[in-house]
Amino acid sequence: MNSAHPSQPESEPRSGHRHVLHGRAIGKTVDGPEGSLTILDGLEITVDAGEAVAIVGPSGSGKSTVLGILAGLDLPTSGEVELLGQGLGSLDEDQRARLRAGDVGFVFQNFQLLPGLSALENVMLPLELGGQDDAASRAREMLEEVGLGHRAGHQPLQLSGGEQQRVALARAFVSRPAILFADEPTGNLDTETGHRVIDLMLSLRASRGASLVLVTHDERLAARCDRRLLMQDGRLVERAAELAEAS
Ligand SMILES: Nc1ncnc2c1ncn2[C@@H]1O[C@H](COP(=O)(O)OP(=O)(O)OP(=O)(O)O)[C@@H](O)[C@H]1O
Ligand SMILES: [Mg+2]
Repeated sequence: MNSAHPSQPESEPRSGHRHVLHGRAIGKTVDGPEGSLTILDGLEITVDAGEAVAIVGPSGSGKSTVLGILAGLDLPTSGEVELLGQGLGSLDEDQRARLRAGDVGFVFQNFQLLPGLSALENVMLPLELGGQDDAASRAREMLEEVGLGHRAGHQPLQLSGGEQQRVALARAFVSRPAILFADEPTGNLDTETGHRVIDLMLSLRASRGASLVLVTHDERLAARCDRRLLMQDGRLVERAAELAEAS
């Protein structure tokens, strides 16, 4: 079996590329109420197949902004993103949407589940967008994997915050993405549920060989990733594990 684990760099990663993500000289400037605001400035990032990377940093430092750009949900003002071997700048919106539907999972800071749909229907969505005909049975299995088989018929407002977070994770994993982006995946959870979600993400990563790029304030989660990157002055800098564990 091919495994894309970083301890076996010579093995062939599932995406066919050693680097699944490469961001070069990324800049992002927006027009804010006080004029032009530079959020990202000359940011570099490389993520290998099967690698788990944590992005940490203070509130407002640009973590959600960079995650959206790296996943192709938002465009940078300058610089280039290569995701799964494709330059995102050369794709139109439809092509980026198709790439995301097939190989990219995203867990939003505020979940973004569709309110009129049940948990099961929310998890089915990426499969249906990808034209899969066994969406219902695969979505049900995935919901069971996150411990929510008994809540499949509940709409988001009929679920607790931790349950919504797990539905969002199930939706992000169900299409077996080569890379998962997650923004504060344990941010709204109590300690015990947070631990369960961390275990779930890392075990899904291990069983599916997916790369993880996680934004987190949670030092336990950051410490369990292969690398930690600190957002500082619009760039990402490597941060030692001991530092992450000590703070
Ligand atoms: N569209 C926009 N227009 C103006 N300012 C924006 C826009 N989007 C983000 N910002 C500003 O850019 C900065 C970075 O925002 P971002 O959401 O990336 O921060 P973050 O690191 O994810 O913070 P948190 O940890 O609180 O989620 C913030 O100061 C925010 O106010
Ligand atoms: Mg954020």
